[in-house]
Amino acid sequence: MMQSTSGSLVLLGATGHLATRRLMPALACCVPANLKVLAVSRKASTTDEYRARLQRPERVNEGDWNALLRQMHYIQADPEHEQGYTKVIAQLQGELVVFYFALPPQAVPAALEALHQAGAFTNESQTVRLVFEKPFGSDAASAQALRDLITKLSPRAEVYPVDHYLAKETVENILAFRFGNALFEPLWNRDFIREIQVTVAEADGVEERLASYKQVGAVGDLLQNHVLQLVALLTMDEPETYDHEAVAAAKQAVLKQLKATDTDTVLGQYRSAEYDLGTAETYVATALRVASDRWRGVPIVVRTGKKMAMDATDVTVHFRPAASSTFGAAGHANHLTFRLQPDESIFLTMAVKRPGEGMDLTVARMTFCYHDSFRGELGDAYTRILSAVLHGDKSVAVPLDHICEAWRVIGQLGVTHLPVMRYEPGSWGPGEADSLVPDGGWTVTQGDVCNGVTLTAGYNGTNA
Ligand code: BG6
Repeated sequence: MMQSTSGSLVLLGATGHLATRRLMPALACCVPANLKVLAVSRKASTTDEYRARLQRPERVNEGDWNALLRQMHYIQADPEHEQGYTKVIAQLQGELVVFYFALPPQAVPAALEALHQAGAFTNESQTVRLVFEKPFGSDAASAQALRDLITKLSPRAEVYPVDHYLAKETVENILAFRFGNALFEPLWNRDFIREIQVTVAEADGVEERLASYKQVGAVGDLLQNHVLQLVALLTMDEPETYDHEAVAAAKQAVLKQLKATDTDTVLGQYRSAEYDLGTAETYVATALRVASDRWRGVPIVVRTGKKMAMDATDVTVHFRPAASSTFGAAGHANHLTFRLQPDESIFLTMAVKRPGEGMDLTVARMTFCYHDSFRGELGDAYTRILSAVLHGDKSVAVPLDHICEAWRVIGQLGVTHLPVMRYEPGSWGPGEADSLVPDGGWTVTQGDVCNGVTLTAGYNGTNA
């Protein structure tokens, strides 16, 4: 659509971390020449000053970056003062208008109202798309109320609550890997799988996102959305087809079966001498269950935290040990790891005979590295999202029923009454979370997997 029709993209929250670090670079890689970009924030700034604070990442070529800067204008607007938003609306051009709410969830309703007051939704010849970052709402009721507000203010608008994890190649590949190979799906159940672990660890702290982190914490920032979506992809049944609706329905079926408890949840906050994090958790770990025959008794143990020992987003499926009468206890329990980032890869550990006399077993691995097979082809998730929204591709929108179901699970964690344990920056989070994982401990992959330098599967990456 954008090839032939002109339009406008309004980026609300333009001075924030998400807009400056992720969305602008992503936009530079997909912005059509006839798209006007309006960067909007409460902060006083001129367009030139705003351009100057943006930094071109290396992966974005200079020509694309400069083209974006030329197409972009900054407007100061505060929902409490109508004139700013009126200026925004006056600048809109073309048949398509996309409003991207890169705002903390608490600021979204006021921005919607201000846009409505300024007449953003009245031009019937325009297609309006509204893009919302996670978390959408702060519980199921507020998510539903936000959806109702959108419908009331802008009944014609197309609504895109997005989750950029779902636009990552390595995440999309989970379904291809599970269902496109004959090998794994027959084993993908409680008879063969002992537990599944998900780690989303980040070495950075909350830094300039302190204010918004205090509102949402790690639970609202990562667990409710990215992590639970990963869990759904890992545990769902095969969809009837691979179209968006069928995949969404299969995911929703398993999200409905997810259960959490406060007794199996640990919250943490890293120690910081630089700033006061209040009561916000920067770490959460929880052992989830899926109430189905397929998954009965299999813990799905997940954790995510800031200021952790390293950047690593790993899913490890722990299979049950070999039931071999020959090798007995020496038989190996295979691990299948999806290293979602960095060093994007998939690897499987397996027992092999150690060369030499006798029949001693040792553990080896088979590794697939994205960069060996698809060098440079792992695109940026936000470019994917922006491009999909500009083309009206709804597959990047998270359905409201997924969002509400995820909030239901979050409601079971006991976030409001659990203590927040302190942990050292650069560690693996509070030691209390160790008791959530069965005997093998937390599993993370260390070292440069793809260059085969080091790998420690089954490493117990805790504070201890
Ligand atoms: C965002 C979270 O959605 O995802 C951030 O708000 C987090 O806290 C980020 O750092 C991680 O994204 P990525 O693509 O770098 O893994």
